Amino acid sequence: METKELQNRRLLLGVTGGIAAYKCAELVRLFRQRGAEVQIVMTEAAKRFITPLTLQALAGRPVRCDLWDIQAEEAMGHIELARWAELVLVAPASADFLARLRIGRADDLLTTLCLATEARLAVAPAMNRVMWQHPATRDNVDVLRQRGVEIWGPAEGEQACGEIGPGRMLAPDELVRRVGEFWLPRRMKGVKILITAGPTREVIDPVRYLTNRSSGKMGYALAQAARDAGAQVTLVSGPVSLVPPAGIECVTVQSAREMFAAVMERIAGQDIFVGAAAVADYTPLRIEKKKIKKNSRTVTLELARTVDILATVAALDTPPFTVGFAAETDGLKGYAQSKLERKKLDMIAANHVGPGLGFEVDDNALWVFWPGGERRLSRAPKQILARKLMTLIMDRYAEKNSIENSG
Ligand code: C5P
Repeated sequence: METKELQNRRLLLGVTGGIAAYKCAELVRLFRQRGAEVQIVMTEAAKRFITPLTLQALAGRPVRCDLWDIQAEEAMGHIELARWAELVLVAPASADFLARLRIGRADDLLTTLCLATEARLAVAPAMNRVMWQHPATRDNVDVLRQRGVEIWGPAEGEQACGEIGPGRMLAPDELVRRVGEFWLPRRMKGVKILITAGPTREVIDPVRYLTNRSSGKMGYALAQAARDAGAQVTLVSGPVSLVPPAGIECVTVQSAREMFAAVMERIAGQDIFVGAAAVADYTPLRIEKKKIKKNSRTVTLELARTVDILATVAALDTPPFTVGFAAETDGLKGYAQSKLERKKLDMIAANHVGPGLGFEVDDNALWVFWPGGERRLSRAPKQILARKLMTLIMDRYAEKNSIENSG
């Protein structure tokens, strides 16, 4: 018998209060049809839009609504339920639910589960367009997205309130497609990957340091993409204001020297190394113990070259598949290709940097080179770009391994 695409996948479907809740009946039916096990958790408000009985009949298991339901807790406690889930999808996700999720409330069963689970979390917002566009909701959604929550939708169109605009829950078949996509790319299972991200800080004196404009977003997005594909991920990160994705090992460092040490300590046994960090090329030769006073008209800082982490990794006796980044303001292709050769890399991802490009922005475009090939990845949010780049890395990594194993 053919295995269904979601066979035995454990999906926790949270339903919150909104008119789109009626679509959950169809949603559950589609999930079940594809073989998923669906556990439904409803909020009090959701019960006003669709009855637990309807969803229970379709899901084939009791619907959970109450954190204080002794009988249900006895069968499967809320912590067990949080562990049981492989993916939590909240659809529809109301404005109120998103607000509660953002601040980490645990005031009903669903928010408690979202806080207690280590599973991936996706939400399909549905609300009136003005509520969706309200700065409070925008802010909540931004924070959740940064925290790694998948925001699916909303779609544009006619709303139950008669208005037209963004706020409709994505259609059940689209949600099913996204859930399928979530479980599909498991091709990095068993692969160990180490990624560096963010800037470094090179101390000048007790109050000053040299740094750069790297936000760390690309490296963090790559870590998330690798984790989603089933890899075992170690992230060595300079100082950034991002929350590390759950389920990965994150080591934080300050200086280039610390980043070098943290990478070299962990590099043995890694299959892939991605140097996405903007490592300082120079560091002050001396760290002044006391704050430098402004006594003279000019001051000279003497800087020394830092160790090139990427080149050191690529030069190891048995190097991992090594991927570098090249951020350039000009001559992108030439500089990237010469770096690929000089540092003996397996791949390099180059991007233009400058005003509104590369650093500190959410979008990016990459030009990827490897010995004998290249591919352009057009401008897209860093999360999407990271998935594409990770796919490219896996293609090349698999090809290199098969050549080495057959040779
Ligand atoms: O030569 P350049 O610094 O432009 O090369 C950029 C690439 O080298 C990036 O992948 C960056 O992470 C890496 N790098 C490094 N250690 C350094 C400098 C750069 O790993 N000290």
